[in-house]
Amino acid sequence: MTDSDAGTTGALDSAFRADVLRGLQSHPRAIPARWLYDHAGSGLFEDITDLPEYYPTRTERGLLEAHCPEVAEIAGTGHAVVEFGSGSSVKTPILLRAVKPAVYVPIDISGEFLRESNAVLAKDFPDLDISPVEADFMHPVEMPEAAQKLPRIGFFPGSTIGNMVPRTGVDLLRRMRENLGEGALLLIGMDRVKDEEILVPAYDDSAGVTADFNLNLIDRINREIGGDMPREKFRHRAVWNASHSRIEMHIEALEPVDFTVGGERFHMEAGETIHTENSHKFAPRDQRLLLRAAGWEPIREWTDEKGWFSLILAEATPQRFAP
Ligand code: AVI
Repeated sequence: MTDSDAGTTGALDSAFRADVLRGLQSHPRAIPARWLYDHAGSGLFEDITDLPEYYPTRTERGLLEAHCPEVAEIAGTGHAVVEFGSGSSVKTPILLRAVKPAVYVPIDISGEFLRESNAVLAKDFPDLDISPVEADFMHPVEMPEAAQKLPRIGFFPGSTIGNMVPRTGVDLLRRMRENLGEGALLLIGMDRVKDEEILVPAYDDSAGVTADFNLNLIDRINREIGGDMPREKFRHRAVWNASHSRIEMHIEALEPVDFTVGGERFHMEAGETIHTENSHKFAPRDQRLLLRAAGWEPIREWTDEKGWFSLILAEATPQRFAP
């Protein structure tokens, strides 16, 4: 996920400005997490995935390596694999090698990111038909010609679904079902609830990379909207919100602070925060409920030996007459 080409389009520039100003004016203050992913933020997120405390990436990779052959046994080969978000260089090849699709369709809002990741994949899979679609997958997406008549497997790894509040997550899963069609399969990664002692350090690591990732938003605001937020007067906070079952990232003022952004003046008291990201963690029943609420029936669920992360294969079943 990235919006690294945001700077080249006026529409995204003004969307960023509008979201930041509205977010700073609202109480509690909050800015949508998508704005964390400029070029520097996307690089820092890549660094996060290698941190010892950040277990999701390596745990999911292990699950994909262990279970993608079973996905191929269940699904067969020769599908269109449709990835929501551009293929990560590590996870996508594991699935592609196992299910040997006829076509790979990455869908991403960032054309630049699509081109970069496809160039890497094309080297490893020279015979694979890669048909990228530059689109916002929250909206209806027309499948490319090559994928029109093929059975489909959707791929949504990384527990990115957890970055959405449940209402938006269900909207997205429903839209995926519409875009993929009845009978399609979806392979999705979902992070599980676990001890706070494991969760908080995963989002507040000892090397300070997640702090840099979060506070990079201040640099971006200052640079792109014209601001004078003093980064040294803020700190990164990762908080477990048990009631919402999510880790929240916040930017917290260390002392009373006055600053200007986009010509508007703001004041924050010590301890006041700007909420910048949610990462929901699911119990197995929550995972099934979320999928079922959107018309996906889980048919296989795999987890690691610690039960930290789930890989779920679900099917877009027809709506049945129910009591
Ligand atoms: C992209 N997403 C699944 C990450 C997560 O774990 O929620 C984003 C992240 N934020 C801080 N660390 C990782």
